[in-house]
Amino acid sequence: MEPQATNPSGAVPMQPSSRPTFLMCPPRHYEVNYVINPWMAGNVHRSSRQQATQQWEELRKALGEYAQVELVEPQPGSPDMVFTANAGLVRNGIVALASFQHKERQGEEPHFRRWFSESGFAVRDIPRVTPFEGEGDALFEADGSRLWAGYGLRTREASHKQLTELWGVEVVSLRLVDPRFYHLDTCFCPLSNGDVMYFPGAFDDGSLRKIEERYCRAKRICVSEEDALLFACNAVNVGRTILLNEISQELCVRLESRGFQIIQVELTEFLKAGGAAKCLVLRLDN
Ligand code: ARG
Repeated sequence: MEPQATNPSGAVPMQPSSRPTFLMCPPRHYEVNYVINPWMAGNVHRSSRQQATQQWEELRKALGEYAQVELVEPQPGSPDMVFTANAGLVRNGIVALASFQHKERQGEEPHFRRWFSESGFAVRDIPRVTPFEGEGDALFEADGSRLWAGYGLRTREASHKQLTELWGVEVVSLRLVDPRFYHLDTCFCPLSNGDVMYFPGAFDDGSLRKIEERYCRAKRICVSEEDALLFACNAVNVGRTILLNEISQELCVRLESRGFQIIQVELTEFLKAGGAAKCLVLRLDN
């Protein structure tokens, strides 16, 4: 048998899996009890933990058909920890750990740090002065060739430089201008076939130009404001499968006509905190 590699902390790296791997966090302590984005306003203490648990379980089960799912233990006092996409950004066994802008979420950082180091990842810190909210604001092109990174509402643009240095990958910075779409993964989704699904209204003109320069017209799937507000762009894409909240029939047909299989999971309880399918998972094997 091959000896197992260990990192300096003695942790055993996760076994490479032929299936994509994602991190999720059970909603045992999930609730809306502060307001750090427009979705949460009016929803404080208005979510049902029981319904949230059912919806989360359904997403986990659906995703489990296509991917391996790892779990991190939820922590009291960190209700948004379910949104693991914000824990950090992973590539080649290295995680750039999130440095949250709001103190309400900074308490999640040590828990995610512990999970990553115990799971064998090399942890890199992003300084507090340049907030970085993980994969919520940084999405790799499906072929890994570049990193699309959001800034302006949560993540600070200066943190992008550190991502470039960390992985030596081209980083394309996109400025977010609509507070309802405060993380890049709420309005932008690179897909496995080289298409991109996005809501143009969430970006400034310069950023739209960057998107249009890198994706020809035929590769761009523009989403209506109505679908964007249903978190259509907050989609988890595994191969030809796309998992997302319930969206319009029109968009569903459009995506199917491009060869995708669409799996809709009702995630209304998480919309109350400003998140849906993609926010609830973090890719671990980029
Ligand atoms: N309430 C959370 C926040 O405002 C929701 C995070 C959603 N996550 C995401 N990747 N878009 O930070």
